[in-house]
Amino acid sequence: MSAIRWSRLGAVAVGAMLLAGCRQDMHNQPKYRGLRPSTFFADGSSARPLVEGTVARGTLQTDESFFTGKNGQTLVAELPFAVEAQVLDRGQERFNIYCAPCHDQTGNGRGMVVQRGYRQPPSFHIDRLRTVEIGHFFDTMTNGFGAMPDYRVQISPRDRWNIAAYIRALQLSQRAATSDVPGGDPAKLAAPAAPAAGAGHAGGEGAK
Ligand code: HEC
Repeated sequence: MSAIRWSRLGAVAVGAMLLAGCRQDMHNQPKYRGLRPSTFFADGSSARPLVEGTVARGTLQTDESFFTGKNGQTLVAELPFAVEAQVLDRGQERFNIYCAPCHDQTGNGRGMVVQRGYRQPPSFHIDRLRTVEIGHFFDTMTNGFGAMPDYRVQISPRDRWNIAAYIRALQLSQRAATSDVPGGDPAKLAAPAAPAAGAGHAGGEGAK
């Protein structure tokens, strides 16, 4: 007996489900599937452009001086984080990849691309670039400068600062006095400091 009762119940349940399946109510709604055309929007596309000023999650750049090298029109005068060995190491590595082909590894501006005919950049060791605010280097990498293309896509903001810090180290290295190396052997330091020797040395380090 109970088996029959159960089967009746089952039939009712299935019937109810079938009926429910026939109800359309709000099941069909006006909507667009991906890439469908639209007669509603004037440009005929159902995909809408991002609202102006939209920022992808995690990429909000509120720190103006960090992301532009400037405060308003004023160039940033100091590196926005502490200079540590890894900052200079990373800066050296990135510089030798992205800048040395033109600026050469010492920053004299006679890199291989220049030797092959590209416009020669100014040396980083001229007074104007030795005294310019560090933000200028960041800005040059971010926006390009004259004949030099920009590197904002290839080099992250943090790495642009690492490189800027390394340019300062390069500038120091080409002007260091013997007194900058306390305790060293002055006789050895007196050896000719030709840029070529410096370039060869830096090449050896770059290969590490
Ligand atoms: C393809 C060659 C090339 C590469 C690569 C290159 N530069 Fe330059 N750079 C130039 C040239 C050419 C100039 C001079 C542009 C001019 O005066 O029209 C220049 C100028 C500069 C200046 C001087 C701007 C001034 O005030 O006179 C700086 C600083 C500089 N580059 C930094 C960099 C850094 C940092 C990198 C690496 C991220 C880099 N450059 C990569 C070609 C290059």
